[in-house]
Amino acid sequence: MFIAANWKMNLDKKSILEFTKSLQKFKFSNHINTCIFPPLTYIDYLHNLIKNLPISIGGQNCHFKSFGAFTGEVSANFLKDTGCEYVLIGHSERRILNNENNAEIKSRAETAINSSLKVILCIGENLADRKEGKAVDYIEKQLNDCLPNNFHNSFIAYEPIWSIGTGKIPSSFEIQEMHTHIKKILYKKLNKNINVLYGGSVNVKNINDILDITNVDGVLVGGASLNAKDFLAIYSAAVKHLDISL
Ligand code: PGA
Repeated sequence: MFIAANWKMNLDKKSILEFTKSLQKFKFSNHINTCIFPPLTYIDYLHNLIKNLPISIGGQNCHFKSFGAFTGEVSANFLKDTGCEYVLIGHSERRILNNENNAEIKSRAETAINSSLKVILCIGENLADRKEGKAVDYIEKQLNDCLPNNFHNSFIAYEPIWSIGTGKIPSSFEIQEMHTHIKKILYKKLNKNINVLYGGSVNVKNINDILDITNVDGVLVGGASLNAKDFLAIYSAAVKHLDISL
């Protein structure tokens, strides 16, 4: 079970300090993997504040080259060096706002894995594709185009674009259908089971229903992870869910 918190371009030093005070008072489980993806500039700061806790840290993106003349970019090696264990690759905000295409995402993921980072590769269809019944085919193509051959120790996050930050989520059937399909494609390509997280408007109210869905191995949470109380409530729901299923 994996709970990932994507803070995007939110939370400054003061808010991070407050957030971590709540984390320090909380009793974490050894059975849940958790990772926070803070803004790049605060990776080191957060890392130092929570290094006694079973929470990993990740970067929100990395470049496909390890070093060089790429102003404003970040190397996977640097993320690793600063204490990151994970990196998000191919988030739809980067695909849309930074024009990252599948080929580029594939090489970013490949470089990250070669730098010993675990990748959370994000995929997701837009509303038009969902409405026209093309979502499953779209995801299959997206996955085929951006999955690197060296994909190990890594995850897929299924995040429908129309669900991110909107409060709308697909039906349980739609999530189960998509996750099952993604796992089938991955098994065929890699001959192993890959965990698939769901992302898009996950919150305290819908977390139990989402975790009940077959083939959902965890969640990638944006907005609801910015508040320590909600983040920990989501985490607790995952612990409870695991206790029941063990
Ligand atoms: P959201 O974001 O939970 O705010 O919808 C999820 C994400 O973008 O990863």
